[in-house]
Amino acid sequence: MTEGVQTPSAFTKRVFSGIQPTGHLTLGNYLGALKRFSEVQDQDYETIFCIVDQHAITATFQDPAVLARATRELAAGFIASGIDPAKSVLFNQSQVAEHAQLAWIFNCVARMGWMQRMTQWKDKAGKNAQNASLGLFAYPALMAADILVYHATHVPVGEDQKQHVELTRDIATKFNHDYGVDFFPIAEPVIEGAATRVMSLRDGSKKMSKSDPSDMSRINMTDDADTIAAKIRKARTDPDALPSESKGLEERAEARNLVNIYAALSDTSVDDVLAQVGGKQFSEFKPMLAELAVAKLSPISTEMARLMEHPDEIDAILRKGADQARAVAAPILQRTYDIVGMVR
Ligand code: AMP
Ligand code: TRP
Repeated sequence: MTEGVQTPSAFTKRVFSGIQPTGHLTLGNYLGALKRFSEVQDQDYETIFCIVDQHAITATFQDPAVLARATRELAAGFIASGIDPAKSVLFNQSQVAEHAQLAWIFNCVARMGWMQRMTQWKDKAGKNAQNASLGLFAYPALMAADILVYHATHVPVGEDQKQHVELTRDIATKFNHDYGVDFFPIAEPVIEGAATRVMSLRDGSKKMSKSDPSDMSRINMTDDADTIAAKIRKARTDPDALPSESKGLEERAEARNLVNIYAALSDTSVDDVLAQVGGKQFSEFKPMLAELAVAKLSPISTEMARLMEHPDEIDAILRKGADQARAVAAPILQRTYDIVGMVR
């Protein structure tokens, strides 16, 4: 619907992305999100990162103590992965009321039919849609507000969130069209790198997910070295040796996944990895991958554990980030209200 629309050049290059504080962070979150966020922070963008606690309560009831802990743990994960509060704005969504305020306007812009087409809604509500929360249905309008309340132009996400960013573009386009303005940017999803879709270690057709019932399906960022090595050793593979070219991975989802993970962790391309390991058996490749994963992840998990012992430090960072976020969001919300005709 919005294919071909260019980001209006009048907008500052600004990145926004969010992660839900539900469950523990996985290697998928790290490679698909956190690692890329810390890279973009050093490029020519303003960067805003948000722990979306309001999204976290849409799907299932969250125990309050668990939600609060997951919020702090995710903040620790951001910081330990290299997000520097001096360079990026880092905060949790509920501290900046402008998200929910703009989301209400967007609830009145988005159409029921658009929401019903969202694959995440269909997956999460399943056959029991009548019993799903209204918040789960409206989730993508809140996500659009997260992005557009900052006039963000670029949204780094994993493959699974592309449809929601496209819906954000549709909402911006319809708002601009209905009110005859060129106010909201048409934000670009940024889906890059070897690991935009890290798959389950048990099933190469399923995404690695913090909600998978099997802990062996994922590497958690808090796993210790032995656990990481054991999970990689037991990862499902096929009996063949690794190919020397990426074409040879086409019908081999599990093999492809492990090579993608290796490439992403070592900041090289899949072709470069295969040039190095082509012809090797998994019995040889898996220990190499385990060693690399432990080397990259253990400094992060150590720093996360240290931060988690100082929750006050984390809370202070989030409060300061929320103040900075509000300073950007409040004027944009006020201008939106003016456009809509809400008197102040
Ligand atoms: P979630 O854990 O679903 O809240 O996702 C947070 C961020 O991590 C989003 O940008 C996702 O697209 C990304 N992400 C989650 N799981 C994966 C995965 N298995 N592979 C790549 N990216 C992922
Ligand atoms: N829906 C995203 C996810 O589950 C999280 C999210 C909420 C988000 N708001 C966002 C991502 C805004 C990018 C931009 O992964």
